Amino acid sequence: MGIWKIRGGNRLYGDTYIQGAKNAVLPVLSGTLVSGCVTKLTNVPQLRDVDNTLKILSCLGCKVEQSEHTVIVDSREARFAPIPKELMAQMRSSVLFLGAMLARFGTAEVSMPGGCMLGPRPVDLHLKALETLGAELILSEESIACRSSGLRGCRIVFPTPSVGATENAMLAACGAVGVTVIENAAKEPEIVDLQEYLKALGADISGAGTDVIVMRGMRPVFYVEHEIVPDRIAAATVLCAAAACGGDVTVRRTVPAHIGPVTDALERMGCAVTKGADFIRLVSDGRLVSPGQIETQPYPGFPTDAQPLLLAACLRAEGETTFRETIFSGRLRHTRQLQKLGGSIQVDDHTAVVTGVAELNGAAVQATDLRGGAALVIAGLAARGETLLVDSDHITRGYERLDECLRALGGDVTYTD
Ligand code: UD1
Repeated sequence: MGIWKIRGGNRLYGDTYIQGAKNAVLPVLSGTLVSGCVTKLTNVPQLRDVDNTLKILSCLGCKVEQSEHTVIVDSREARFAPIPKELMAQMRSSVLFLGAMLARFGTAEVSMPGGCMLGPRPVDLHLKALETLGAELILSEESIACRSSGLRGCRIVFPTPSVGATENAMLAACGAVGVTVIENAAKEPEIVDLQEYLKALGADISGAGTDVIVMRGMRPVFYVEHEIVPDRIAAATVLCAAAACGGDVTVRRTVPAHIGPVTDALERMGCAVTKGADFIRLVSDGRLVSPGQIETQPYPGFPTDAQPLLLAACLRAEGETTFRETIFSGRLRHTRQLQKLGGSIQVDDHTAVVTGVAELNGAAVQATDLRGGAALVIAGLAARGETLLVDSDHITRGYERLDECLRALGGDVTYTD
């Protein structure tokens, strides 16, 4: 349990370096298991989800070393073992161990994965993909087991692009004989990062970032180095905070093209945005106007993970902003908490209509999930007076020292674990 104490009203100024992506490092860490080798990962964010994933790898017999932002995983002596339920329950991405274990051991067993409560989060597309590759599934209420006496290359056609299911299919296909074609694949930058890692690991794989990914087997490699892609949602978080508070902030070590729809919206709100090869600078006088309608979409559309962040920045934007959440049905729960700060938000089903108010006021609030929690931090920074945010460890699952980052930019924020 953590407590965030935020005294709002300060403008934000300065430069900040963006962490490696949570949603990229977790699949890559699962991927270290698919063939016996030593992997050195750099730009690894220091997060609770990473710690848990490393614990899972240790349970599976991998040797793990971690120092600062570097992680070394030696999976040469990995062996099949049950993953403790309490580790599985911590995060959604633990389900990726299904594909990775199948590829390596021909057998996998996990209990139901945890993660943010964003409404129903089925894993049917993951399981269908593994079945198509030739795995036999044994399902119970509590666990998922898969066995295979040899995965075969095949054609997997997703009815809708799923980030996790695409990653699971890519991981499992590393253990298949023959060509695997994944159609209607998710195109997120984290999928491209996984492809780059798997390529370094010896996989003949191409197409990530487009609708179709093709895999043609693997040749053994004994040592791999890979740098994790920067976290686009962490960059969006700092930019939305700077827009909401006003100021002049530059996020460095980022890929501007990865959050185009977010920076476009911030520009429509009246912020001046400048982009370089690996930085984004945002200047705002704190007077914002509505960016118009926002609808979340799979990449390259407006990211669902950034919806709560931009929504928080729109609370004081003149006019009406409509947010339509099309990815996760339960992803407007933060709006209730934002209302406590004085936000004017009407929620109907999957749509939230925000009417800009002149002022927000600090209040006692609770983080509902990872990005919803970050949205409350942003709104607290833009509000008058003090906000006390109680968080049962959602924010630290995905952000590396967000409090220090915001303090360095001039925000009056403290976090106590
Ligand atoms: C990942 C990200 C999460 C992000 C989301 C969408 C990680 C660890 N998490 O989550 O931060 O918000 O992508 O960009 O990378 N679906 C099914 N059946 C399935 C799988 C998914 O119906 O088997 C549905 C989901 O309910 C959702 C949609 O597909 O409506 C997209 O979900 P998906 O892309 O799979 O999200 P995650 O991989 O869980």
